[in-house]
Amino acid sequence: TEITVIDHQGREHRFAAHAGFSLMEAIRDNGIYDIKALCGGSCSCATCHVYLESDAALPGMSEDENDLLDGASERRENSRLACQIKLNGLTGALRVTIAPED
Ligand code: FES
Repeated sequence: TEITVIDHQGREHRFAAHAGFSLMEAIRDNGIYDIKALCGGSCSCATCHVYLESDAALPGMSEDENDLLDGASERRENSRLACQIKLNGLTGALRVTIAPED
């Protein structure tokens, strides 16, 4: 799976997904620090908020993710928390924009 991430400056970063990691980890590992991920991926900070720009077949969100996104600023219909998106078994390219900071 190829991942494209659009940062706060509108720059595109493209890299390959590695199974066993979350999208949040992949973004940070590729040196994109616009994503704060303050809680380290435990679904409690919402600072890994992204907008899904592609229709890659992703598993649905958990109730926890949904509740947390309700508290995030500028939630949109395509909002997800990147730490909750596991890169295992993804098919199709994934394209996301990092949401503005709170
Ligand atoms: Fe905190 Fe995703 S890193 S909710």
